Amino acid sequence: MPDTSTQTTALPLSEVLASFSYALDITEGQPAGHCIRSCWIGTHIGLAVGLDGQELADLYYTLLLKDLGCSSNASRIAELYLTDDRSFKHDFKTIGAGVSSAFQFVLDQTGRNSDMVKRLKAIGHIMKHGGQITNELIETRCTRGAAIARQMRFSEKVASGIHSLDEHWDGSGHPQGLQGQAIPLYSRIALLSQVIDVFNRSRGPDAAVNEVISRSDRWFDPGLVNAFLSLARSEDFWAGLASNDLEQRVLAMTPAQARIMIDEDWMDDIAAAFGQVIDAKSPYTSGHSERVGDYAEMIGRRLGVDKSRLRWLKRAACLHDVGKLGVSSSILDKPGSLEDEEWVQMRDHATQSHAILSRISAFGDLAAAAASHHERLDGTGYPHGLSGDQISLETRIITIADFYDALTADRPYRAAMSVDQSLSIISKEIGKAVDADCYVALVSALGERGENLPGADLIRFNRAV
Ligand SMILES: [Fe+2]
Ligand SMILES: [Fe+2]
Repeated sequence: MPDTSTQTTALPLSEVLASFSYALDITEGQPAGHCIRSCWIGTHIGLAVGLDGQELADLYYTLLLKDLGCSSNASRIAELYLTDDRSFKHDFKTIGAGVSSAFQFVLDQTGRNSDMVKRLKAIGHIMKHGGQITNELIETRCTRGAAIARQMRFSEKVASGIHSLDEHWDGSGHPQGLQGQAIPLYSRIALLSQVIDVFNRSRGPDAAVNEVISRSDRWFDPGLVNAFLSLARSEDFWAGLASNDLEQRVLAMTPAQARIMIDEDWMDDIAAAFGQVIDAKSPYTSGHSERVGDYAEMIGRRLGVDKSRLRWLKRAACLHDVGKLGVSSSILDKPGSLEDEEWVQMRDHATQSHAILSRISAFGDLAAAAASHHERLDGTGYPHGLSGDQISLETRIITIADFYDALTADRPYRAAMSVDQSLSIISKEIGKAVDADCYVALVSALGERGENLPGADLIRFNRAV
């Protein structure tokens, strides 16, 4: 594991974003590597139409990040269609371009597991307000995606490429109904690339080619379609797309070879931006990632965590729930208690957080530390049932930061608790779920921040230990 205790960061931008793109794939319900494959496809199309230099680099990052806004409409999709947003999003990408296909999609998707009355009501609402709903969902996604790209310091060209991803060549797309050349070139290439990947992945190259031909002049720029059809005659193109080392191949492409390095401040911005992607998944987690990052930093500082490692700890804390992007919003936002199968999916977010964070080598052991935030000192936590000394100080810090924020924020099943109530609940978990030193550090940090603390909590805690 790399030692992050004294690390001063200079990480390649392409590698970091390629790693994070897997989080976008799980949000979209796509097979892992969808954004990487779209990047391979679209960058080749860009090269075929003569892009190079900064233009090709902007295209490359548009393709990797095209789904940055994908989490922002997930909750609304689950609410409107009474369904799992991830399977909805997955299946939405394979529906045909015609009205009848869209109609059939609504019938198939809406209220799959709901009773008939609720289902019919939901279908009726969608049929009545279909255009408005589609526009709302896409506009939310596009606007948020573009805003997050700007926050990550990408150019306006990249942001607009993401914003107009769902515009169609014939003007039938959303949110602005742009037409032809008025649609940013990167958006046109990104839309084409994602459809190629989805159809190639699920039905093979011939299906992808046929789908592109059938949507040419309607969804797709015919000039780009021709460029792709030339490319599709290359066996190397398809072999590369199917290769096990595709990520390495994408990272070896010209734009990535510019080796744009991320400094510490930029890495903070990228982590914070992805924290927003995570929090956008549910209306009940707004600001959660950022606050957990802040609390973890406050606690870690009081516990003497080294300055450089503290910065990485804050980033890891900010991203501790990145795996929730792979959990259905119908579960995350459920007001009642979860069924056993739903709990299995909910708990899986910790494992998925580890899978995503461990792709970024600079996190080192902090990837596991962040992903272990639901472990408990008494061994009854998840995903591994770790106990006592098996749980690192960094995990203990993130765990209490997460616990405190969960209590002091609104949840689907209850309103936010006061600082007093929250500390009282946490203090009862000392030695079971919560580390005593971390609790003292949290109380001290909150006091310094000006929270009106009930002295009784600290006293109660002191008696308890
Ligand atoms: Fe969590
Ligand atoms: Fe959390």
